[in-house]
Amino acid sequence: MIKRQVAPRTVVETIKPYAPGWPDRTPAELCRLLDRSEVAKLSFNESPYGPSPKAVQAMQQAACQVHLYYDMEAKALRQKIAERSGVAIDNVYIGNGGDEAIALLVNAFVAPGDEVVLPWPTFGQYANATTIMDGVPVKVPVREGDLMADLPAMLAAITPRTKIVFLCNPNNPTGVVVGGAELRAFLAAIPSTVLVGLDEAYIDYVADDAFVTGVSLLDEFPNVVTIRTFSKVYGLAGMRVGYGIGHSDVVTLVQRVRPLFNVNTLAQFGAMAALDDAEFVELSVRQNAAQRQWLSERLTELGWRVLPSQTNFIFVDTGMDAAPLADAARAAGFIIRAGAGWGFPSFLRISLGTPQQNAALVEVLKKLPMQQENR
Ligand SMILES: Cc1ncc(COP(=O)(O)O)c(C=O)c1O
Repeated sequence: MIKRQVAPRTVVETIKPYAPGWPDRTPAELCRLLDRSEVAKLSFNESPYGPSPKAVQAMQQAACQVHLYYDMEAKALRQKIAERSGVAIDNVYIGNGGDEAIALLVNAFVAPGDEVVLPWPTFGQYANATTIMDGVPVKVPVREGDLMADLPAMLAAITPRTKIVFLCNPNNPTGVVVGGAELRAFLAAIPSTVLVGLDEAYIDYVADDAFVTGVSLLDEFPNVVTIRTFSKVYGLAGMRVGYGIGHSDVVTLVQRVRPLFNVNTLAQFGAMAALDDAEFVELSVRQNAAQRQWLSERLTELGWRVLPSQTNFIFVDTGMDAAPLADAARAAGFIIRAGAGWGFPSFLRISLGTPQQNAALVEVLKKLPMQQENR
């Protein structure tokens, strides 16, 4: 252990390190097991269908240019995103993953003591980014039962110190969506001086007709910033590309805090090619939807309560302490997450794998002694 020379800001020590999915393995060991398909990592909501071969090809071709700093404004990528989204390039900023797209928004707008309202449980980055800026995350518990974001309670939590309200739609880890009508009413009730970070990381998996994207509401609500990622349906989690779409005045300020070359050359080319491969996306979405239904049915047959997922993962109430279930699944080669960290100890969050992985996981879950004892 290196002797600490420089004391960190107090707030840094309050941030909990990310808990790895498999504490008894080193990352290198885990990679080896994954390479040999001896382990199924169903804990990070990654796409089991990989990246588009066209994206891989584009990145291979771009590899011979990596001695150069590439376009620091990522103009070609932002232009393509803008065209797909029906906005102008000035409405788009890029991030090193959705994670950074969230952090950049917070960095630009949250000063010490400012408040950021978010549902709980939700994606941890909103609270972490706020804490790092010495802001105050205000966590509003989701409704009991259906675990939907409690929108009236979130509105009631807004104060003159509130700078941003985050809403993850569909939400991670619950997988449920807020419908368009409710979303509109929610946005209409938020003061126009408060930004709304609408995280749509899982939008491509949404099948619910009631869903409305924040991008389509931008003209009506210029305080909305919609955040997306290439890490899910596009299968580019390792490349780290995300983006935000907002009013050009907001984007201009975010651009000032953005590290200039935050999205690397390969990632830019990979993301552009991925956007062009509609067929690949369609196939991934279709396979995901089929697996979502199949696994939901199997888990329901186990007597567990499955929340209606609109994502590539399932949040399920096992009705018992889920930690031993996750431990036993891990021992059998399946990394899934127990819900205690989110305050839901009887829940599991299971990322949808390939049909083979999902089928094998169900066989493991069926045999767990804990479950049989408890039923
Ligand atoms: C809701 C949500 N937003 C954003 C992200 C960030 O993804 P990335 O940083 O890989 O783009 C994730 C990743 O799991 C997520 O679940």
